[in-house]
Amino acid sequence: MNNQNYALITGASSGIGKECAEILAKEGKNLILIARRMERLEEVKKQLESEYGIEVLIYQVDVMDMRQIEDFFKEIADKPVDILINNAGLGRGKSKFEDASWRDFEEMIETNIKGFTRIAHLAIPFLKKTKVHMLNISSIAGQQVYGGGSVYCGSKAFVQMISRALRLELKDTNVRVTDIAPGVTETEFWTVRFHGDKEKGNKAYQGFTPLRSEDIADCILFALTRPKHVNIDTMLVMPTEDRR
Ligand SMILES: NC(=O)c1ccc[n+]([C@@H]2O[C@H](COP(=O)([O-])OP(=O)(O)OC[C@H]3O[C@@H](n4cnc5c(N)ncnc54)[C@H](OP(=O)(O)O)[C@@H]3O)[C@@H](O)[C@H]2O)c1
Repeated sequence: MNNQNYALITGASSGIGKECAEILAKEGKNLILIARRMERLEEVKKQLESEYGIEVLIYQVDVMDMRQIEDFFKEIADKPVDILINNAGLGRGKSKFEDASWRDFEEMIETNIKGFTRIAHLAIPFLKKTKVHMLNISSIAGQQVYGGGSVYCGSKAFVQMISRALRLELKDTNVRVTDIAPGVTETEFWTVRFHGDKEKGNKAYQGFTPLRSEDIADCILFALTRPKHVNIDTMLVMPTEDRR
C-alpha cells in the first residue's frame, strides 16, 4: 500500500465506512473521509491522527446533492487518491411497494444510485492515475430479494452491475474493482432504516449473531492486499447463523 496516497471513503461517520477508515489507518494510509455529520467526522479524524500518525482530511458532503459532490472533487483535485471505498448508502422503510413512501424511495435512489454513480464517475480519473482499487459496498439484498425491500434491493443490484461493468472497462488500466456484499451487519443501518426507531431496528439481529463492521473491513483489507494480478470480483459475506 502506498502511504503517500489517500484512500477516499464515503459514509465514514459510522458503521462499515468508519471501520474501514480505522483498518486503513492502522496500515498507515492517509485518508479522505466524507459524510454529512461533520462532528462525527471530526471525532474520527482526531482519534485516527493521534493514534496512527496519519493525515485525515474530512469534508461534509451530502451524496444526494450532485453539486456538493462536484465541488468536493474540485477541492481534492491535487490529492493522489488511489483507493475509493464507495460505501455511503441507506435503506429506508420496509413496507410493501404500494404502501411505501415516495420520499423513502427517492432517498434510496438518490443516495445508493445517483450519489454512488457520481462518486464513482468522478473518482475514476484519480484511480487511473494511481492505478490501484475501487471497492463498492453493495449487499446480499442485491442478489436475494425480499418483500418490503423492492427499491433497496434494486439499488444494491445496480451497485453490483456497475461494479462488474467497471471491472471489465478498467481491466487494461490496472485499476481493480471489487464488489463487497455484506449480509446483516450491526451498524446504525437498521435504526436509520426504521427512521430512528432503534428497538425496531434491533429486531433485524434477532435469532442470530450479526456481522460486525470489523468483519467487513477485514474483507476489504484482504481484497486490497492481494497481489496486483488478483482482482477479487465479488465477496458475499453472511452471518454464519443466518440461514437465508
Ligand atoms: N448494516 C447492514 O446490515 C448492511 C448490509 C449490507 C449492506 N450494507 C451497506 O453498507 C453501507 C454502509 O452502511 P452501514 O451498515 O455502515 O450503515 P450506517 O452505520 O448507517 O452508515 C451509513 C453511512 O453512510 C453515510 N450516508 C448516508 N447517507 C448519506 C448521504 N446522503 N451523504 C453522505 N453520506 C451518507 C452516513 O453518514 P451521515 O449520516 O453522517 O451522512 C454513514 O456514514 C451502505 O451502503 C449499506 O447499504 C449494510
